[in-house]
Amino acid sequence: MTNKTASNPPIAPEDDGFAVRDSGQWVVEKLDYIQRYINMFTTAMADKPWRNIRYIDLFAGPGKCKLRNNGQIVLGSPLLAITTKRPFTDYFFVDISDENLEALKARTNSLPQFDHVNFRHGDANEIVHQLVAEFQKRDASYITGRWKSLNLAVLDPEGLELKWSTVESLAKVKKMDLIIHYSQFGLTRNMERCFHEDETTVVDRFFGGKAWKTVYAQKRAKGASNARIHRDLIDLYKSNLADLGYVDVVEQNPDSEPLIRHTSKNAPLYRLLFASKNKLGNKFWDEVTKRDVYGQRRLL
Ligand SMILES: C[S@@+](CC[C@H](N)C(=O)[O-])C[C@H]1O[C@@H](n2cnc3c(N)ncnc32)[C@H](O)[C@@H]1O
Repeated sequence: MTNKTASNPPIAPEDDGFAVRDSGQWVVEKLDYIQRYINMFTTAMADKPWRNIRYIDLFAGPGKCKLRNNGQIVLGSPLLAITTKRPFTDYFFVDISDENLEALKARTNSLPQFDHVNFRHGDANEIVHQLVAEFQKRDASYITGRWKSLNLAVLDPEGLELKWSTVESLAKVKKMDLIIHYSQFGLTRNMERCFHEDETTVVDRFFGGKAWKTVYAQKRAKGASNARIHRDLIDLYKSNLADLGYVDVVEQNPDSEPLIRHTSKNAPLYRLLFASKNKLGNKFWDEVTKRDVYGQRRLL
C-alpha cells in the first residue's frame, strides 16, 4: 500500500494505492444509476428545511472499483455520494472488511464532509439495528422550523448477504428510501438446493421467510424460464416492501428495475430495486432508469 500524495488525490478515479474492489465492467452501469439518483435526490432536497439528509451505505466497499477488463478505476457508491454537488448532512458507511473501511477513511479524511461520516465495521445485518435506533432517537427530538430526516440507503452486497430483517429495520425510519441489489445470479445458483432444505437458508433470510418456495414451486412446475421465476419472486419481494409501507412499489414499471448483465456473456447478474414511501422518490427513480449509461432508452 502506498501513501496518498498531493499529485495523486485520493478522491479522483485513479489508483492511489489503497484497496480497490476488483469489478466487472457492468458496475459502471449500476454506479451510473446510483450516481444519477443521488444527484437528483440531493439537488431537489438541498434547499428544503431538512435537519438531516442521511446517506447510508451498508455494504460500502473501499470506495474505488478496478475494472477487470481494462484496469480503469471508477468511484464506488460511497465516494459518489460524498462528492455529490449538494452533499448529504450525514454519511454512514458500513463494511465487514476492515481493509475496505480503512481505505474509505483514507480517501475521505481530507474532505470537508469527513466530520459528518460515521464508519462502522462489522456485519451490516447487525449494525443496522444500532443505526436505526440512533436515527429514531434523533428524529424524536423536535426542532421548530426544521423537518426531521430524509434518508437514502444503498444496499449493495456481493450476493445474498442482505437479510430481509435489515430491510424491515430500515423501514422503521419514516422517510427511508432504498436502492436494493436483488441478486438474480445468486438466487438462481442457490434456490434449487435451498428449496429442499428445512433449515433456514440464505434464500429464506433474503426473502424473510419461506413464501418464496411456493412461488418457485408453482413456476417450476409450469416449466417457467428463470426470467419468469424472477419476475414473480421480485413481485413477492415488492409486496413484502408494500407491507412495510412502501406503497408505490407494486405499481412500478418492471423496467424501472434495471437488470445488470454480465458484459461479455450477457447473463443476468442482478437487478436494482427501488423503494420509497414518497411519490417523488419513485418519480426520480423512474426518470433515472429511463436510460442506461450507454444511452439506451427503456421501452415504455
Ligand atoms: C458489491 S460490494 C459494494 C460495492 C459498493 N457499493 C461500490 O459501489 O463500490 C459489497 C461489499 O459488501 C461487503 N460485505 C459483504 N458482506 C457484508 C456484511 N454482511 N456486512 C457488511 N458488509 C459486507 C464486502 O466487503 C464488499 O465490500
